[in-house]
Amino acid sequence: MESKMKEKSESVVDMSPTSAVVEGGVEDIYGEDCATEDQLITPWTFQVSSGYNLLRDPRYNKGLAFTEQERDVHYLRGILPPAVMPQELQEKRLMQTLRRYEVPLNKYVALMELQERNERLFYKLLIDNVEELLPIVYTPTVGEACQKYGSIFRRPQGLYISLKEKGRILEVLKNWPERKIQVIVITDGERILGLGDLGCQGMGIPVGKLALYTALGGVRPSACLPITIDVGTNNEQLLNDEFYIGLRQKRATGKEYHDFLDEFMKAVKQNYGEKVLVQYEDFGNHNAFELLAKYGSTHLVFNDDIQGTAAVVLAGLVASLKLLGGSLADHTFLFFGAGEAGTGIAELIALAISKKTNAPVEEARKNIWLVDSKGLIVSSRKESLQAHKKPWAHEHEPVNNLLDTVKAIKPTAIIGTSGVGRTFTKEVIEAMASINKRPLIMALSNPTEQSECTAEEAYAWSEGRAVFASGSPFPPVEYNNKLHIPSQANNCYIFPGFGFGLVMAGAIRVHNDMLLAASEALAGQVTEEHYVKGIIYPPFGIIRKISAHIAANVAARAYGLGVATRLPQPADLVKYAESCFYSPNYRCYR
Ligand code: NAI
Repeated sequence: MESKMKEKSESVVDMSPTSAVVEGGVEDIYGEDCATEDQLITPWTFQVSSGYNLLRDPRYNKGLAFTEQERDVHYLRGILPPAVMPQELQEKRLMQTLRRYEVPLNKYVALMELQERNERLFYKLLIDNVEELLPIVYTPTVGEACQKYGSIFRRPQGLYISLKEKGRILEVLKNWPERKIQVIVITDGERILGLGDLGCQGMGIPVGKLALYTALGGVRPSACLPITIDVGTNNEQLLNDEFYIGLRQKRATGKEYHDFLDEFMKAVKQNYGEKVLVQYEDFGNHNAFELLAKYGSTHLVFNDDIQGTAAVVLAGLVASLKLLGGSLADHTFLFFGAGEAGTGIAELIALAISKKTNAPVEEARKNIWLVDSKGLIVSSRKESLQAHKKPWAHEHEPVNNLLDTVKAIKPTAIIGTSGVGRTFTKEVIEAMASINKRPLIMALSNPTEQSECTAEEAYAWSEGRAVFASGSPFPPVEYNNKLHIPSQANNCYIFPGFGFGLVMAGAIRVHNDMLLAASEALAGQVTEEHYVKGIIYPPFGIIRKISAHIAANVAARAYGLGVATRLPQPADLVKYAESCFYSPNYRCYR
């Protein structure tokens, strides 16, 4: 049939968002029903999968777990060997295979292949073996995976939106095969963990974080969308690497960068509406603060490095009071690193103290000190400081090394958020131990090599008195015939439940009170049994229970603040959260 379309027709993606709603309130999200003949639409097809195609469809493939009856009905006879293997046995076999790999990156690749082959089995493995597999799909191994992403890249696992797509971002979003997206995790790859600019290869982070959204937080995989914004990279090594998968140009900055991000944010809202969560990950800090401030009042956005970290660390601090004594307001906090993580945590601690004591936030900030690459942040440096550091410029003479700062400030807790490894030296920890009966040492920088100190160092140099938490995991340490179990203060405790709570309530904005709510819920999961072992975070083994409580608390706060749109509010939010969780168990096919 001869096409009546004009050569360069207007696409439905160019239409105003209001025109995508047809009479009767039925949403025509992709503008197919209301498109006129000269407007372009995407020709979607939906078909029932069977036979060989069914085995190649990761969402529905069950491998050897297809029953005899399913093999008959779905034309699988002969394509599969005769054995029928239940999901549990498949899981056992795969875990045995994974454990045989000695190199963590090989485990990572094997897991990614599984995700591309059999999605439910991948999530079942992750959920049932979370403590063992978290360090593979997340820090530290995901860092190495990003560094080598060009070599291990097989199939796209998310959307790559590069400067080449400028002016067409909405169209690119429509290329993604899923329509009902609830959570987007996005990076521009500028500050991947503590590894710096990895450009387009930062994709491993959104992919890993969203795998955790499903495994730990219960969001359906089809509702998750990993995105990498590629505006170039300043990493010379990558630019000269023949296997690099991104744009070969220096990073776009200034107006070009912000216009591009603006186009993206508008396209997201136009395509998915007001209730899609956009989680920013591993942006360079100059952009991270600006994006959060800019879109916080117009979109549902959350910066995991600033806000997620803040909530998780605050929870650990609150829990640690059981071991250290006193209230938050009685402690002095010293941050080594005053970027996204450091200032984000500091701000939330001040807010929590201020809510508790009814003192102004400015007052609450006084017991919180920060050090950056130029030394202690003090009032004489105020003029030259970036905006996020200014509130922390207290009256004090300049001090430019950490040891002298510890001696001068006498903190009860030091929190490493510098991305620079081995900076909590023997002298620093010994100084902390001489000031405090139980010094709180948090070495939060990732991955492991960037950790400010190891668990072993913290316990040994404090004669076993430190309460220790790190961003990347460390094994238990035996010191003086006592087993010390390090805690892992990682934002993966918070973001899956936090995001799920927002989605569950249909929230349209994130509010700091919701971060406090998430933090309270996490701290509430630490019990006497954990304190006895000296740990200040609950074990990851119960992470889905933790996420349900966080989600419920966050949703409750969203309802309380009037930013929840899913009405009426469920009576029991914890039960409701649990009932909405994605289950990875196989389904039966008719
Ligand atoms: P950022 O780049 O925003 O901040 C780094 C800060 O460290 C800056 O203030 C910088 O001046 C300071 N710094 C750098 N070198 C220093 C030195 N030699 N001495 C003193 N200060 C120095 O980075 P961001 O996002 O705050 O992340 C920092 C680290 O924290 C990274 O390693 C990241 O992986 C880790 N992190 C850990 C999280 C967790 O859940 N455990 C969550 C978020 C970040």
